[in-house]
Amino acid sequence: MSEEGAKIAVIGLGNAGLPLAAVVADSGIMVMGVDINEERCRLINRGGNPIPEEAGLEELIKRHGGKRLVATPHFEDARGCSTYIVIVPVFVDGGNNPDFSILEKALYSLGKILKKGDLVVLETTFPPGTTEGMVQSRLCESSGLRESDFFLAYSPERIMTGYSLSRLREFPKVIGGRDEESGIVAYQVYKKFISNLHLVSSAKVAEMIKVMEGCYRDVNIALANELFKICQDMGIDFFEAREKANHQFCHIHLPSTGVGGHCIPVYPWFLIKEMEKREHFSNRRLLRTSRDVNDEMIRYWAERILLECMKINKPLSSIKICIKGITFRAGVKEFYHSRNLALARLLMEKGLDAYVYDPLLSELDVQKKGLRYIEPDKADLLFDPFELKFQISKNKRTT
Ligand SMILES: NC(=O)c1ccc[n+]([C@@H]2O[C@H](COP(=O)([O-])OP(=O)(O)OC[C@H]3O[C@@H](n4cnc5c(N)ncnc54)[C@H](O)[C@@H]3O)[C@@H](O)[C@H]2O)c1
Repeated sequence: MSEEGAKIAVIGLGNAGLPLAAVVADSGIMVMGVDINEERCRLINRGGNPIPEEAGLEELIKRHGGKRLVATPHFEDARGCSTYIVIVPVFVDGGNNPDFSILEKALYSLGKILKKGDLVVLETTFPPGTTEGMVQSRLCESSGLRESDFFLAYSPERIMTGYSLSRLREFPKVIGGRDEESGIVAYQVYKKFISNLHLVSSAKVAEMIKVMEGCYRDVNIALANELFKICQDMGIDFFEAREKANHQFCHIHLPSTGVGGHCIPVYPWFLIKEMEKREHFSNRRLLRTSRDVNDEMIRYWAERILLECMKINKPLSSIKICIKGITFRAGVKEFYHSRNLALARLLMEKGLDAYVYDPLLSELDVQKKGLRYIEPDKADLLFDPFELKFQISKNKRTT
């Protein structure tokens, strides 16, 4: 594909950007993918898939990589495009404030190639108001264009790693403009490759939709965790109660070791910090408490592990404890804010003889994380943080 043939540029070919770029290419549109990771670009152009756990992606990259989907580390190569979709991450820093540094760099580079009449759509999750605020300012500064010279919109990425392609093809996607015209222009472009698309009244509403989803999950997981602990205290089977409690108007989530990953534990902070900046502390009370409840679950599970250890006929310091699974979610090799990893580290800090086993990791992978590896059958006590189940090895139980 020649550079002139590219119509849409996707900036950021990561876990979210690459599946999107592949779906756009598969709809027949020429895509220029821009990513500063040169190795990743080379692999994609050879038809190779850097995210093997993403169902169906391999086939799409094999079909379109280096042809209808061309990856490049140079923004200059995307100058011929008229639509730019930006999908690089925004994290929170040590104080839980949004860290826009990666996004700002990408916007600066994009501004250098932006032309009058172009459309820019942000898909990165960030605090409501960022598109019409920071994003627009940075693009104007770096391009020298006025606000009215380009269209600007927001459409949140609502995928889930492992299911991205089906999510993009079936799940409702929303889009909203900085102004009415931007919204309509962006909707018309996205309609070519997203079938279940909904135009909302503004970029700010679209931004809020995504952050709201994350907050809903975090608060409801905190509720499930709290109810689970109460049930344990009162000798009630949580899972039996939950099954019958859930119906059309009640959905109690599943308890866990807390909430990990790049998304759910991060997004509530966008609103918490905004309310704190405005000194509207009472508006963020539930979100703040839910974060604490979820993060503190590893202490609860560490105590439960100690109680299980008391059932074993050995001194505590010599009981080999194995945490079976340290990724943030089962089946996905990602560790960002993993509470299972944090639990393993907490047990070690407490001076316990704690080890780790993960079907997705080699012994070396485990060691690189500063943890000790063990085969599950060599441990005295096994804790599966995904199933929340304990297993004491045979003949080790006190009578
Ligand atoms: N991964 C998910 O499951 C998921 C789900 C929903 C939403 N999101 C959102 O999607 C956004 C991106 O997340 P991700 O998981 O794809 O991140 P990621 O870290 O997997 O990928 C980011 C990519 O951007 C590239 N990049 C960084 N700086 C760049 C620059 N200046 N120019 C060009 N490329 C640059 C990186 O090299 C990397 O390949 C985030 O806002 C996230 O919240 C992700």
